Amino acid sequence: MSIKAIIFDLDGVITDTAEFHYQSWQRMADEEGLDFSREKNEQLRGVSRRRSLEIILDGQELPEEEMQRLMDKKNGYYQEKLKQMTTEDMLPGAEELILEVKNRNLKTAVASASRNARTVISALEIGDLFDTISDGHSVENPKPAPDLFLHTAEKLNVEPEECAVLEDAEAGIDAALAADMFAVGIGPAERVGHGDLVFASTADVKLDVILEEAD
Ligand code: BG6
Ligand code: MG
Repeated sequence: MSIKAIIFDLDGVITDTAEFHYQSWQRMADEEGLDFSREKNEQLRGVSRRRSLEIILDGQELPEEEMQRLMDKKNGYYQEKLKQMTTEDMLPGAEELILEVKNRNLKTAVASASRNARTVISALEIGDLFDTISDGHSVENPKPAPDLFLHTAEKLNVEPEECAVLEDAEAGIDAALAADMFAVGIGPAERVGHGDLVFASTADVKLDVILEEAD
């Protein structure tokens, strides 16, 4: 089926917030005496805030109130860092790609697991480029569940099979495939090689190739 909409993941596709997330988790973990490292952080890409904390806790169970306190602490540090974000923080090629999508009269959306997505989008000043934005508040079940992408297709008024998703995370590719969408991985094959198509970075994405391959 031919593609009518391109759905962009935000963190890692349009902008690189991974370092901010990492530093915020690390600071919280250090203060709370939890074991965490840059290596472990790799497992958190694209994963919801709660699931990220569960991965850091590595099976250790905590009361809900304590979970909430640790998530809030990390989020406070992350939001502090977002204050430094400007329009300069777009990943190379991201803006050009979004504009190309729009010039082709394809619909555009952001579908991000982050509850901070709107803050990031407004710091980047790109809100007007999208027909709709879905974020960590939009659905109950986070990626790898297909829900966020299905919700986005519904808002765009297109069928799931008419959407191509650009994702840098394993969980995001899983979610796009589960939604029956054309999944485009951005990053190394070890992470996103199970997508329908893979590019090394946002700057390498070729819209023509996506539209041709998905047809
Ligand atoms: C994803 C990031 O976009 O959003 C994850 O890749 C992050 O690292 C997740 O954990 C949730 O973000 P937030 O801002 O709601 O804590
Ligand atoms: Mg991502």
